[in-house]
Amino acid sequence: MRMAISRRRFLKGASSAALLAELGLIRETAARSVIRAPSEPASITGKAGWNDQYSLDPSVTYLNHGSIGTIPRVVQEAHSGYLSLCETNPWLYMWSEPWVEPREEVRRRAAALVNCDPEELAITHNTTECFNLLAGGLPLGAGDEVLFSSLNHLGASVCWYNQSVRRGYSVRQFDFPIDEIGLLNESDVVARYEEAIGPNTRILVLPHVDNTVGLRHPVAQITSMARDKGVRWIVVDGAQTASMIPVDLKALGIDVYATSAHKWIQSPKELGLAYIKEEVQTQIRPMWVTWGQNYWKDTVRIFEDYGTRALPAVIALGDALNFQTQLNEEERERHHWQLWQNMQQIVDENDNLFWRSPTSWNLSAALYAVEVRDKNGSDVAKSLFEEHGIVVRGFNTPALNGIRISPNIANDTNDLEKLVAAIGD
Ligand SMILES: Cc1ncc(COP(=O)(O)O)c(C=O)c1O
Repeated sequence: MRMAISRRRFLKGASSAALLAELGLIRETAARSVIRAPSEPASITGKAGWNDQYSLDPSVTYLNHGSIGTIPRVVQEAHSGYLSLCETNPWLYMWSEPWVEPREEVRRRAAALVNCDPEELAITHNTTECFNLLAGGLPLGAGDEVLFSSLNHLGASVCWYNQSVRRGYSVRQFDFPIDEIGLLNESDVVARYEEAIGPNTRILVLPHVDNTVGLRHPVAQITSMARDKGVRWIVVDGAQTASMIPVDLKALGIDVYATSAHKWIQSPKELGLAYIKEEVQTQIRPMWVTWGQNYWKDTVRIFEDYGTRALPAVIALGDALNFQTQLNEEERERHHWQLWQNMQQIVDENDNLFWRSPTSWNLSAALYAVEVRDKNGSDVAKSLFEEHGIVVRGFNTPALNGIRISPNIANDTNDLEKLVAAIGD
């Protein structure tokens, strides 16, 4: 991308307005570089939607947004513009004024997405980082128990075992009845957590939407039940929810929520968000400290005191958030619901396929699992990719043998039909 970069930034005293104008210019250029067909429909979803502006290889059918998202071209272009700009004077952009305020603007936009106070939101690298921060930094010790279900992702589980050895607390995982998932309602899910909580449970960890069968947990209800039972901290793994479904952190009433922006927010890789409730921030010992340990003390920025970081990507997270705010949430939800319904119908009509996910939409998401009769799920996923260019996640564990499908806004029912036809081959 070619862009005009103001020479004024080299001058002592260049105004912050001029520096901000540079970002504006990059954004405008990036937006212009995205070609839109004049006949495009207003819809945000499906192949014909104006947002079908990705760089996917045309031979690839991408149904694995749960593992890693696709980045809209407008965001890629903006990111590349910031990288170029940064290289015109790396010191200036990394360590001086120009990107201080834009970075705060990213925080404000991210906070608006998940409905929290910007002062409660750290811009991290990913979900796993936040769980490592908690496992090492919360005041837990002998006699305290960390509890989660078998639906918890390893990125939100392994760190607790690792730190418990050093810090003396205990970790307990209970089996979630994944085989009964299609029969459960919200109260059943709350009841499973309620039964599991013990007298020493200090912290409850749960996914908002798990990464295997896509159970959308009734977080507000679980939180209120757990608090009544004396659980001190409720921490939620939101890797699969920010920008996939509406997230209202104020309404959920939890203590911590972590997400990876490189999934559904469609940001450059290695970016995450950690919501840490104000009163909880002072209870956590930061995992990393550098020069900022006093400067950022008592603010959420203490949890992003990394030293040098990939600031062009952080600024481009703002563009990804911009892109997301252009999508109508209701339309996106309807799209996800429609594909979820269509996939269930396709499965119902096929004797070799079995639906392994929840069957009511209030417990579901844009991520679901299907078992293929007499086939190993990992092998199915491998051959779908190698022989047909279809990307899904395969599972072959005692709990789940099948493929996981996670379509996003640019997918349509044809992609699902293509998948099923390929399985039948
Ligand atoms: C539910 C869940 N939690 C955590 C993670 C880990 O994400 P990251 O590697 O971005 O930290 C994933 C990744 O797929 C996930 O699905």
